[in-house]
Amino acid sequence: MEAARLLRSSRYAIVFTGAGVSAESGIPTFRGSGGLWRRYRPEDLATPEAFQRDPELVWKWYSWRIRMVLEAEPNLAHKAIARLEEAGLVKAVITQNVDGLHRRAGSRNVIELHGSILRVRCTRCSYRSILAREPGDIPPRCPMCGGLLRPDVVWFGETLPLGELEKAWNEAAKADLVMVVGTSGVVEPAASIPLAVLSHGGSMINVNPEPNRYTGLADVEARMVATRFFRPLLRELGLAR
Ligand code: OAD
Repeated sequence: MEAARLLRSSRYAIVFTGAGVSAESGIPTFRGSGGLWRRYRPEDLATPEAFQRDPELVWKWYSWRIRMVLEAEPNLAHKAIARLEEAGLVKAVITQNVDGLHRRAGSRNVIELHGSILRVRCTRCSYRSILAREPGDIPPRCPMCGGLLRPDVVWFGETLPLGELEKAWNEAAKADLVMVVGTSGVVEPAASIPLAVLSHGGSMINVNPEPNRYTGLADVEARMVATRFFRPLLRELGLAR
């Protein structure tokens, strides 16, 4: 298996993931069949303007998604990525996902480019908190100042958390292999991070049942769902439990 060979011979491999890695945990993706942006308009739900206009509507949608994330379990792909890190074959996981499933699967060096749906922050003061369940009152209010709380995620039109973005670029600069798993690769600046690995001569493995931004650029095209890719990979690397 070419992917196993590339991983074994790499010096510094990183993983870059999108919604597709969590699809088999029952969390819908954004684009493609069953995708959230097929049923909802991002400008109604995932922009600062939408939140200002109707915080209750935005919070209802996020509460539904928070519940889904809390009920979901990491799948074999999340676990395999964590196992590869444990074995020293993967150094970092850069994710666009807000579901926290990589950490729950055991990945340690996780960079969350788009925030976390399980955190809230105050729109007025510096209060931040972690959610163990969806908020009871909608829209939730800050216990410190009474201001509106918002999900600690990146909305359209907002900048990415600077520290995370910097860490991601640093990892990409060090990497000689990037495994891209379950992303369409259309949302910038995130989507350019794997391209940085290619631009300094590194390799790419692209795991996706559909063609995406990286099709034609990757060294290995694994045209399949993530769990189907990772099961034999772990076996071949002698890491299956
Ligand atoms: P998308 O919904 O754009 O793309 C999901 C990708 O996963 C598609 O290319 C699918 O073909 C693929 N896919 C589906 N099922 C899969 C499976 N079982 N295994 C592997 N791949 C599978 O999601 P993202 O690329 O993550 O931004 O979207 C990027 C950003 O757009 C998200 O972070 C979000 C969204 O708007 C923000 O919230 C800021």
